[in-house]
Amino acid sequence: MSCGYKLLSLEEAKAMNPEVVFAALPHKASAEACAKFADQSVVIDLSADFRSKTPENYKAAYGLDWSFPELQDKAVYGLTEWYRQDIQGAKLIANPGCFPTSTLIPLLPLLKAGMVQGPAIINSMTGVSGAGKKAVTNLLYVERDENSGAYNPGTKHRHQKEIFQEANLVANLESILFTPHLIPLKRGMISTQVLNIAGGAQEADFHQIFLQLQEENPFVFYTQGSLPQSRNVQGTNRIDLSFQVEGDKVMLFSAIDNLMKGASGEAVQNMNVIFGLDETTGLRLQGEV
Ligand SMILES: NC(=O)c1ccc[n+]([C@@H]2O[C@H](COP(=O)([O-])OP(=O)(O)OC[C@H]3O[C@@H](n4cnc5c(N)ncnc54)[C@H](OP(=O)(O)O)[C@@H]3O)[C@@H](O)[C@H]2O)c1
Repeated sequence: MSCGYKLLSLEEAKAMNPEVVFAALPHKASAEACAKFADQSVVIDLSADFRSKTPENYKAAYGLDWSFPELQDKAVYGLTEWYRQDIQGAKLIANPGCFPTSTLIPLLPLLKAGMVQGPAIINSMTGVSGAGKKAVTNLLYVERDENSGAYNPGTKHRHQKEIFQEANLVANLESILFTPHLIPLKRGMISTQVLNIAGGAQEADFHQIFLQLQEENPFVFYTQGSLPQSRNVQGTNRIDLSFQVEGDKVMLFSAIDNLMKGASGEAVQNMNVIFGLDETTGLRLQGEV
């Protein structure tokens, strides 16, 4: 029985001159596939291969040298809510990591407005699909079911470097302690960030920024009185956001589906922007419940 699709070699795919190519491969293998199409197609890479602004940052995170340094300058970091204008003319998109997507969307506008400053403490929880399909012991059902814990805390996780890089392009954040936690969900990601309030910002100012974010971005939902929940965004390309002021600190809360807004949905959103389509084309706004 036909499955309705045909597997092609990269060479066969290239000969078909596709308008757009999505690469969802492990880093390094992804860059190699992307490089084959970079001269003719729009390429959207879901790996980390084109996200680093310097070879040192990539090496610190992934222990590798850039495979295609000549392509790095062409890559636009695909955080749609922040780089929409640059994405419009882009030929190569470095789709962001899932943790960076969940943290940077609420953080960057506040940094730009001078309303927060470091050091930042970020704790995130991710469903198991965030690690991909690799067969390793700590991802076995018996290890993960009814079990949660932190991993690669502080400055050890690769995405700490990605978040730090992008935040510091906007304002000096001093330092970020980022701790991911693996929780027994198939998909879903929750992030909580704690920062110092700067510039005399008041609760009403944070409220205003989040209202504006929601107004300008079809996938941003400001949950206001309630805290974001992973179930509400499951299967959607949404990011739900809220905040709470505590004395001289502000807490930022966000929820995404790591496989959608944290990966494939964000990639399709970027494609929509590049080709001048409605940004929500093919992407869900409503969750399962
Ligand atoms: N999972 C997430 O939440 C998430 C979020 C954002 C970004 N990403 C990034 O997106 C990319 C894909 O992630 P994933 O979670 O889908 O990974 P995954 O479940 O591990 O899938 C990787 C796929 O790549 C194939 N592959 C592995 N090595 C290859 C090679 N050398 N050449 C060609 N194909 C190869 C695998 O093929 P086989 O089936 O034959 O093994 C598999 O189909 C990664 O770079 C990841 O970091 C993932």
